[in-house]
Amino acid sequence: MIVPPSLLLPPSGELKIPHAPETERPSKPIYFSLVVPTYNEGRNIEQVIRVLSGLLDYALPNDYELIIVDDDSPDRTWEIAQQMTGEYPNLRVMRRQDERGLSTAVIRGWQAAQGQVLGVIDGDLQHPPEVLLKLVQAVKNGADLAVGSRHVEGGGTSDWGFIRRTLSRGAQLLGLMILPNVVGRVSDPMSGYFMVRRSAIAECLMSPLGYKILLEVLGRGRVDRVTEVGYVFQERQEGESKVTWRQYVEYLMHLGKLRSRGRIGRLREKFQFGRFLRFGLVGFSGVFVDMAAFYLLRVHFGLGIARSTILSAELAVVNNFLWNDLWTFGDISRGQPGKRQRFKRFLKFNTICLMGIILQALIVSLVHDVFGINEFIAKPIAIVLVTFWNFWINLKLSWRVTDVRRK
Ligand code: GDD
Ligand code: MN
Repeated sequence: MIVPPSLLLPPSGELKIPHAPETERPSKPIYFSLVVPTYNEGRNIEQVIRVLSGLLDYALPNDYELIIVDDDSPDRTWEIAQQMTGEYPNLRVMRRQDERGLSTAVIRGWQAAQGQVLGVIDGDLQHPPEVLLKLVQAVKNGADLAVGSRHVEGGGTSDWGFIRRTLSRGAQLLGLMILPNVVGRVSDPMSGYFMVRRSAIAECLMSPLGYKILLEVLGRGRVDRVTEVGYVFQERQEGESKVTWRQYVEYLMHLGKLRSRGRIGRLREKFQFGRFLRFGLVGFSGVFVDMAAFYLLRVHFGLGIARSTILSAELAVVNNFLWNDLWTFGDISRGQPGKRQRFKRFLKFNTICLMGIILQALIVSLVHDVFGINEFIAKPIAIVLVTFWNFWINLKLSWRVTDVRRK
């Protein structure tokens, strides 16, 4: 597919925003990237681009970009926007043909963005453009996230009927019950008008469902300071809304997904499954080192049984330490650099392994003598138990997290 220079190539793969913008074309870093997701906004897009560019040219001259992310609209919204790129040098247009949906459109736009601050606004003029300047100011004042809200002072809806109002509030209430720590952080969690610091969501794997991208940012990002700015949700003048009952169902499923993620994440943190698996694999590799060294020492060097046993066991300990330090606990050891620190970890690891061997002997004899279980069954039981013990003690002592220097 040939992409004209004025079109942005849609990113593919994981929905993850990089720490630093991925620059292909030589361009200096900019402050702000505003994404406008569109689907059949052909009758709005021209005015949207003119108004937003005008405001941003005034507030952040040449320090912003406006990114239209269109899902290959049948009314050719993308084409109308593309024709304006000559007149508006900070305008970029992405035409997505392989993916659909509001939330992923926003994330794809941010992935291609160059800015340090990432924003989103609807492409139908229902979000009053002037509020943008207040949102930018809020981030400049230190907020990680600035949200346009219908439910704080200065906010509201034009003239929504009783039913729509009730549905919107009901959805919010349900959200509060299912996911209080996320939904409760802002007065208008349904807002699609906000901006966030790149650093607050960089490298977080997003997995949005449906319309509510703000839930994703709050639920998966590292958002500390939030500021809300009131705005009045305008009536649509042109085109039509894409919201159907389906968005309500997806909203509920999205809440459930974020909730279970939180629970599984906490379990994972507590038990460190992945780390334990790596520890077990390293231990397994040690068995082979031990056996090979034992064989070499006995057969080629003619050492006695006792010496060969001790030496080969020590070699296995060294092998295990190196792999554990590099891989199993690599994230922790990188925070404690220096030879001295590493040697300290090695001494602790060694001591714990030695205690582990003694513990193993105790368990084998206990299981064998007291419960009368065959020693070849008692031994693997002991190995498993001691591996758990070794892992926990090493995690708490050798690679203790409290030593980690904060960046
Ligand atoms: N690229 C893309 N793909 N854009 C889409 C899609 C899609 O599948 N669906 C909708 N959009 C675009 C629309 O063209 C519009 O610019 C914007 O997303 C919002 O869609 P609407 O259908 O107009 O939604 P709404 O007016 O009911 O609700 C909006 O405002 C709410 C209140 O702030 C949404 O932005 C909500 O997220 C927001 O909460
Ligand atoms: Mn709308």
